[in-house]
Amino acid sequence: MTEETARKVDMEKIVSLCRRRGFIFPSSEIYGGLSSCWDYGPLGVELKRNIKEAWWRNVVQERDDMVGLDASILMHPQTWEASGHLKEFADPLVECKKCHLRWRTDELKDDSCPSCGGELTEPHLFNLMFKTFMGPIEEEASIVYLRPETAQGMFVNFQNVVNTTRKKLPLGIAQIGKAFRNEITTGNFIFRSREFEQMEIEFFVKPGTDKEWFDYWLEERLNWYVKLGIEKENLRLRQHTKGELAHYAKECYDIDYLFPMGWAELEGIANRGDFDLTQHASSSGKSLDYFDEEAKEHFVPYIIEPSAGVDRSALAFLCDAYAEELAEGEMRTILHLHPSLAPVKVAVLPLSRREKLAQAAKQVHADLRQCWMVQYDDAQSIGRRYRRQDEIGTPYCVTVDFQSLEDNQVTIRERDTMNQIRLPISELKSALAAKLSGEPLFVLPPGGQIWKEEKEV
Ligand code: GAP
Repeated sequence: MTEETARKVDMEKIVSLCRRRGFIFPSSEIYGGLSSCWDYGPLGVELKRNIKEAWWRNVVQERDDMVGLDASILMHPQTWEASGHLKEFADPLVECKKCHLRWRTDELKDDSCPSCGGELTEPHLFNLMFKTFMGPIEEEASIVYLRPETAQGMFVNFQNVVNTTRKKLPLGIAQIGKAFRNEITTGNFIFRSREFEQMEIEFFVKPGTDKEWFDYWLEERLNWYVKLGIEKENLRLRQHTKGELAHYAKECYDIDYLFPMGWAELEGIANRGDFDLTQHASSSGKSLDYFDEEAKEHFVPYIIEPSAGVDRSALAFLCDAYAEELAEGEMRTILHLHPSLAPVKVAVLPLSRREKLAQAAKQVHADLRQCWMVQYDDAQSIGRRYRRQDEIGTPYCVTVDFQSLEDNQVTIRERDTMNQIRLPISELKSALAAKLSGEPLFVLPPGGQIWKEEKEV
């Protein structure tokens, strides 16, 4: 273990690491950026893919009662009337008569402008949905909206999914996709942006069993974050008060995370009752009820909705993993990311650039990259290369040295403990596979040995 850990993290450090190492850039940066839009760089895109993959595996692949969907972003405009978004998805907004800045009323401390102290207008409702036009004519009849949540695609496809899968209730539909909100107040890096990704489940259940399933999903979703490495004390459940419940919700809890700026919503879990299916059935004229063959009865299912943000999850995983540690007399910045989330799983580091060694190392690299994202790094000292990999959360480094040319063995160095083992190249893939899939660290392969990291080579 390392000697000392300082886990206090501020947002500037996370933003700086993300910028410096290619996780996240401001959108269209060469033009000065576009407010609250972000681009995921080479490491960020891997982190996001891994988060989505871990979620999909957990909620779809490993379950019998869930199927996936990928609905289109643009939906029939009637969807948003039926869902209540055209009327209800709005924030009350005031404008300063002097500096013309706009504020959400819940951000105000008193009735003056927080920026210049000027007088404010009366609040008016500002709809958060982005509008655009479909087809070549820009007229009222061709207005469509960029979806503000992925959920509606699952409600309107409920009957399609039930009919084509022949599955019985309880049944969930899961979807990952982009959502857009013209947020009035943005900020805190990727926490609140205008274009973001959601991972949503709509879990359809028989009325009367909804409370039981609601409690089940609260626990299930909390545990997902914990299993992927988030410290329990940085998570909490917060129940929505009556006044703050969304127009569709009977009951709702937020899973909050202790972000650098304080506790804030990471995921929302709502009991939406029969609101959505009833609304869409009456608006479309198509029945969206379910026939229970055993009970021989028709009913409109209730829906439990665990709705998570990919970007907020990425931010939470980064904040929780970030540490600056004193290790053997030197400070290192490290991301203690769970191996399944780490953008790069293994780095191959030849001890020297000499031809023979490089050849052997490149062979190891070529072999390992068939299975995982693997980096090859031969620049600067081995110590600096280890630090570079620690900083982006790479769980394992494989070092190829001159001895490797003689005994066909290489060294694996583990990120968190900095322990190393030496093992035959022929066993490397299976040893890494076992470690990356979460087997206890450093179960020695036959003939392997363990020792602590050496200083400079
Ligand atoms: N279908 C329900 C729904 O959309 P929500 O609480 O408005 O519920 C769910 O959003 C999740 O989507 C949030 O918990 C958050 O993780 C993410 N999210 C919402 N607005 C966001 C924004 N402007 N930027 C980034 N993520 C956002």
